[in-house]
Amino acid sequence: MTTSQSEIQNPAERGASSPKSTIQCVILAAGQGTRMKSAQPKVVHAIAGRPMVDYVIDTALSISDLCPIVVIGYGADSVRTAIGDRVEYVLQTEQHGTGHAMLQTRDQIDPSAEIVLVLYGDTPFITPETLRDMIDAHAKAKATLTLLTFKPIDPANYGRIVRAPTGKVKNIIEYKEATPEQRTIREVNSGFVCYHARWLWEHLPKLQPQPGHGELYLTDLVSMAARERATIATCEASEAEVLGINDRVELARAEQLMRDHINHNLMLNGITLIDPAHTYVEATVTIGADTIVYPGTHLYGKTAIGSHCQIGPATIIHDSQIGNHCTIVASMLEGATLEDDVDMGPFSHLRKGAYLSKGVHIGNFAEVKNSRLGQGSKQGHFSYLGDATIGADVNIGAGTITCNFDGVNKFPTEIGDGTFIGSDTLIVAPIKIGQNARTGAGSVVTHDVGDNELVYGVPAKPKKKSVNP
Ligand code: UD1
Ligand code: CA
Repeated sequence: MTTSQSEIQNPAERGASSPKSTIQCVILAAGQGTRMKSAQPKVVHAIAGRPMVDYVIDTALSISDLCPIVVIGYGADSVRTAIGDRVEYVLQTEQHGTGHAMLQTRDQIDPSAEIVLVLYGDTPFITPETLRDMIDAHAKAKATLTLLTFKPIDPANYGRIVRAPTGKVKNIIEYKEATPEQRTIREVNSGFVCYHARWLWEHLPKLQPQPGHGELYLTDLVSMAARERATIATCEASEAEVLGINDRVELARAEQLMRDHINHNLMLNGITLIDPAHTYVEATVTIGADTIVYPGTHLYGKTAIGSHCQIGPATIIHDSQIGNHCTIVASMLEGATLEDDVDMGPFSHLRKGAYLSKGVHIGNFAEVKNSRLGQGSKQGHFSYLGDATIGADVNIGAGTITCNFDGVNKFPTEIGDGTFIGSDTLIVAPIKIGQNARTGAGSVVTHDVGDNELVYGVPAKPKKKSVNP
């Protein structure tokens, strides 16, 4: 970290070691992100399953007690929907640059804030630790503004930090406006800046539109501060933390980095990943210790997996709750719930509302939708259960189908405890099959079946004598 000091003006004299509550975070997220070439605003593009701006918000929330302000504009409604109500919003109806975006926030900034910390919504890897270092540097230098800079291998389109021969920061020159010589500067602007609040509000209205396109650059405040000989401090970050995402190439790189980070943390928390490079876990997923995840596994959304499970290979799980000691091989789960000790697969599919109680066994080519299987029940081979309530210890024979749909409406099926459904049974809903009943192989069951009853044939008829007297 380097700092430059001014003897002439020092508006941040009372800034030393400010308490948490005096920091107001502002996240700029109103831009379209033209380089993404997308109908969606850039900041809602997901990284490891979460809108990129969400990560910045998490960080902002962890460093200040004041509610972060997010400036939205392009696609404001979809940004609001993606983020929810954990922040305050300011609308920038037309996007005339980062300086113009900041100007819109003036009335919403908490008057107690001594430091305004500006964050960009397209820079999701920033950590609270680095921001705290920056805030400390700002307070220590009693700076007017403190820039977080970095020196990437390829400075690409980032704004260049122009320093005087003395080392003092003179200005930030955007890549577009930079001369070929300035473009060789390796030190660039991350976009994260701490401002002395009063100085910021005094100077923001003085920003001049850029010739040609008329944008107000927030970065132009730096040359204003330098001209006034105000204190400009800088703090250096690692490239990995301040990577800005502007196009799909950078998005893919960010996805890879985030995935590595998530997998790394999972492993440190006691989860075995057989091949982390081929394991895809979104940031919203939780996994218990001693679970083993095999390659080609994708875990998405609000999925929670218990401990001592074996998941994969080649398994896709969305928004599902999985207990402890479960085994799932080469299968797909969407909106399903599994209690402990369930085993499943290969090649089966649980759809929304599938609920498998403790010890259920699902074999191959089975599909379950909006159905509950009681404790210890088995559905071993190619079959479909939809809108069904199955008791405990039921055997669903190979080829069983609940015919739950008549082309217009869906109908329920109920099967009692201990019942044995013979191979290739078609169960035409709505229907109720009692406890400890049996259906013969190939039956088409069109009427309710009583407890202990055996039915068979097409359409299925009861055998006179009960099977389990
Ligand atoms: C910006 C910086 C550049 C820095 C880089 C770091 C400026 C002028 N340039 O460039 O120095 O190296 O970030 O990643 O600040 N936004 C608004 N309203 C607007 C325009 C932008 O809210 O009118 C938001 C965007 O949604 C985005 C952020 O500000 O989250 C940065 O805008 P972007 O266009 O990505 O700036 P860069 O060209 O990357
Ligand atoms: Ca950017």
